[in-house]
Amino acid sequence: MSSNLLPGHYHLVAVKTAFLNNYSNPDEAWGKMVVEARVMKFLDDLPSVPRVFGVFRQGDVCCMIQEFIGNTFTLSSTTFLDVLLTGQPSLSALECISMTSEVVIALNDMHKRGILHNDVAARNILIHHAGTSYRAKLTDFGMACRVQYPRAHRELTFSSLDELLQYNQDHPEVAPEKYLDGACDSVNGDVYSIGYGIRIVGVAIRSSEMVELGKSCTSFDAEDRPSLDWVINILDIIKENEKSNPTCRGINGP
Ligand SMILES: Nc1ncnc2c1ncn2[C@@H]1O[C@H](COP(=O)(O)OP(=O)(O)OP(=O)(O)O)[C@@H](O)[C@H]1O
Ligand SMILES: [Mg+2]
Repeated sequence: MSSNLLPGHYHLVAVKTAFLNNYSNPDEAWGKMVVEARVMKFLDDLPSVPRVFGVFRQGDVCCMIQEFIGNTFTLSSTTFLDVLLTGQPSLSALECISMTSEVVIALNDMHKRGILHNDVAARNILIHHAGTSYRAKLTDFGMACRVQYPRAHRELTFSSLDELLQYNQDHPEVAPEKYLDGACDSVNGDVYSIGYGIRIVGVAIRSSEMVELGKSCTSFDAEDRPSLDWVINILDIIKENEKSNPTCRGINGP
């Protein structure tokens, strides 16, 4: 007897799991996952945000079911951090610029809907191959909050300059006002984090324009950072220049 798969549509999913007995307050951990799922649901019509299907809790385990973003043959997922660390998969300079732009657009759109991400980092950008080129999606909304209700940060005290430099090295994408002044999460804080990413991509593909753009987004003074509308326009110009006069390098494996 032959067996056939039933025809129809199906989704490959990724399951984000939290084991609640690892938390001192399990109900709070479950509540956080529910909030994260709500934020994603609110944003999942944006093309660069993974879709979310639901959350459930069974005993000490809670799970969030999301659209799987990654290689649908090997069932492996890749973050932008993986690409920067391994050079795999190899990406053209144009793909790198376009993917950066996709993430900035997603971040800008969520700000316009009143949500801060608060954890923009290469480890939270998923890449996947879509037809003819690689695309990026921003994920991990576990730290997100409303623009009107930002969380305050703890002002850290450093006993030496070395300690301060070490903190900065460990958390390079965190805006300095958060840990130096205990400033609240803000649009400018997200701009700093994405700016750090833009700088890193600029270095990787040898685009001095992207490095400069990243530098302006990571201005020490939060008020000096540009708007994301402006950043998106500049990235468009960089992309068009690269199309007409390719000067940057792609990211390649060793
Ligand atoms: N929708 C998805 N499709 C495929 N893989 C995913 C998806 N979401 C997350 N992942 C994988 O799981 C990892 C962790 O996801 P996420 O960042 O949401 O959780 P986290 O608890 O914050 O983990 P971390 O502390 O490592 O950032 C991602 O780096 C990625 O490898
Ligand atoms: Mg994460």
